[in-house]
Parts: sequence; structure tokens; C-alpha cells
Amino acid sequence: MSDILIAPSILSADFARLGDQIREAEAAGADWIHLDVMDGHFVPNITIGPLVARAARRSTDLPLDAHLMIQAPERYLEDFVRAGVDRITVHIETCPHLHRVVERIRELGMKPGVAINPGTSVDTLREILPHIDLVLVMSVNPGFGGQSYIPTSTQKIARVRALLTELTVAGVELQVDGGISMETIGAVVSAGATIVVAGSAVYGGTQSVAENIRRLKEAAAVPIP
Ligand code: DX5
Ligand code: ZN
Repeated sequence: MSDILIAPSILSADFARLGDQIREAEAAGADWIHLDVMDGHFVPNITIGPLVARAARRSTDLPLDAHLMIQAPERYLEDFVRAGVDRITVHIETCPHLHRVVERIRELGMKPGVAINPGTSVDTLREILPHIDLVLVMSVNPGFGGQSYIPTSTQKIARVRALLTELTVAGVELQVDGGISMETIGAVVSAGATIVVAGSAVYGGTQSVAENIRRLKEAAAVPIP
């Protein structure tokens, strides 16, 4: 059976009681807390920044996983390190000098990740993979929670997994983000994902956060081919 990590995205949480919502996820067995940072330029939406990351840091000991959907993310790396995040993922589409940004993230003591949009080819990852700790395959166009999973993402995840095997880079997490639900998580895990982000599937609906996480973990526990 697979050992899959679940990273609830607080984007779908109730921000009026953010600390409680994070603690609920931690108590229910969440592995990381995912922070969706949006700037209204790279993506149409504006969400949170280092201030909220710092509040999240005070609410949990779990790794904080910052997903920067912002132009020129290198401008804000120090702010996020001061806020206490553990991992920073930048979009390949926002970084003409990607290697420099990745090295800077590592220099600052955080683990670097690189995200690709649905329209970005897997091949763009080839040169950077040996330098990073995580690849994030977006399975929706970034900007909003609650969108539908793009079905071709499953093949794309499998292609990233094959590239990781081909390049024999060990220990790189393969993360998937967008439209994850009880219905889609199984395919994502079978294709080779090791960590799954879930926003509305954790914080939406009528069930408790604990029940939602339990069901996601159950649905993810598929045999690895
Ligand atoms: C989308 C964000 C996601 C989003 C996931 O731009 O990066 O992390 O919050 O939300 P769901 O799980 O509802 O698709
Ligand atoms: Zn995200």
C-alpha cells in the first residue's frame, strides 16, 4: 500500500477561525499545511501573504508548505522565511532565472519546489529536477479553490514520475494540487503522486475536517502498480 501525505489548503478554511481550522487538520492526521499565496497578477485572485503564514506558524508544528502564485517570487523569500514556512514552491512560469531562485530558497534554509501549470510541458522540468525537493503538478489552472480536476493531469503526473525515474533523482516529492476529491485522489496516487493538496475536499461540504481527511486517506490507499 502507498504512504501518501495529505496537505490541506487553508484557502477553503474559515479564516475567522484559522488557528482552530489548522489544529483540526493536524489532529485529524494532516501531514503538511498548504498556503496558497496569490498576487492578482500571475493569477486573477488575491489571497494571503507572510502575515497569515506567520499566524499559521503559531497554530501548528506541521511543515508549512507555501505555494507562491506570484510574479517575481524572489522578492518575498526572506519575508516567508521570517514568517516560519518550511517549504517554498515557485511557478516555473514566473521565474526566468529559476535555478537562482531555487538556490536562494535553499540558502535561506527552506526546501525548494517548482510548480507547473496545466498548459506547461513536463519537459520544462528536466534541468531543474536535480536541484529541487518537490515538483508540483497543477491539476487545475491556479487561482481558485473548488475547481474541477483536469483529467489529462493523470497522464501528466505519470510522465513526471517517469522523468524522476529516468533521471534517478531520489527523494523528490511529487505533489498534485487542484480538484482533489474522494473520486480523483486514487488516480493521482496510482499515477505516482506522493503528496496531495486538498482544499474544498478538506474544508468544504457538510462533514467534519477529521472525517474528510479520513476519507481522503482511505481513498488514497490504493496499491502502487
Ligand atoms: C489553486 C490552489 C489550490 C487550491 C486547491 O490555485 O493552488 O491549492 O486551493 O483547492 P481545491 O482542492 O478546492 O481544488
Ligand atoms: Zn496550492
